[in-house]
Amino acid sequence: MPSESLQGKNIEQPKVAIEIAKLEDWEDYKKIRLEAIEKNPEAFALDPENLRQEIYKRDRQWKETLKDPNVMVFLLREGKDAKGLAITKHKPDIEEGFWRIYHVYVSASLRGKGAGEKLMTEALEKIKERGGKKVWLNIMGNPEQSPARNLYQKLGFIKSKEVYEKSGKKLYFMQKELKE
Ligand SMILES: CC(C)(COP(=O)(O)OP(=O)(O)OC[C@H]1O[C@@H](n2cnc3c(N)ncnc32)[C@H](O)[C@@H]1OP(=O)(O)O)[C@@H](O)C(=O)NCCC(=O)NCCS
Repeated sequence: MPSESLQGKNIEQPKVAIEIAKLEDWEDYKKIRLEAIEKNPEAFALDPENLRQEIYKRDRQWKETLKDPNVMVFLLREGKDAKGLAITKHKPDIEEGFWRIYHVYVSASLRGKGAGEKLMTEALEKIKERGGKKVWLNIMGNPEQSPARNLYQKLGFIKSKEVYEKSGKKLYFMQKELKE
């Protein structure tokens, strides 16, 4: 008699936790971001110069991001290991309550099990708690980005009509209004 999990029910969910990185987490933040640009460079609009700057960032620069009062860096952990990342930044210079999300990434071993959705939902929740009203992110136009595109659409992000070009690649933005 096959077990329920073999029939596709009760599929085991990975035990993951989401946290806002503190200064002492800077090495985990660095590790997971470097993994993201190594494994999925196509997901991020990086030209060779951007890539070089990120790879050779000094330790103090990783720490500076974590010290920025307008930034929340979300780490997704499986046990102690950092397995996912999302960076959020308040941009009051553009508009009060306007936030950007960058560098969304989940390690390949955890994909397709709800980790990315959990990470993004938590990030949106915390942005709202901080008074966020509108959230923007960029997404590359290449077909490999359909998992990310679907994820953002599922969470209520709406795709822009305008297409931009950065580092010779097409990208567009997606936007979500955070309701009271
Ligand atoms: C995009 C990414 C973060 C998604 O993480 P994930 O943990 O696999 O996503 P989840 O399992 O939580 O899936 C949530 C939703 O995303 C979409 N999705 C995820 N994987 C998908 C796939 N392979 N194909 C199509 N849609 C997919 C679905 O809408 C899914 O909801 P559903 O399960 O109800 O269908 C992950 O694929 C990733 O890190 N990719 C490489 C980096 C990247 O592209 N970053 C985004 C930069 S903008």
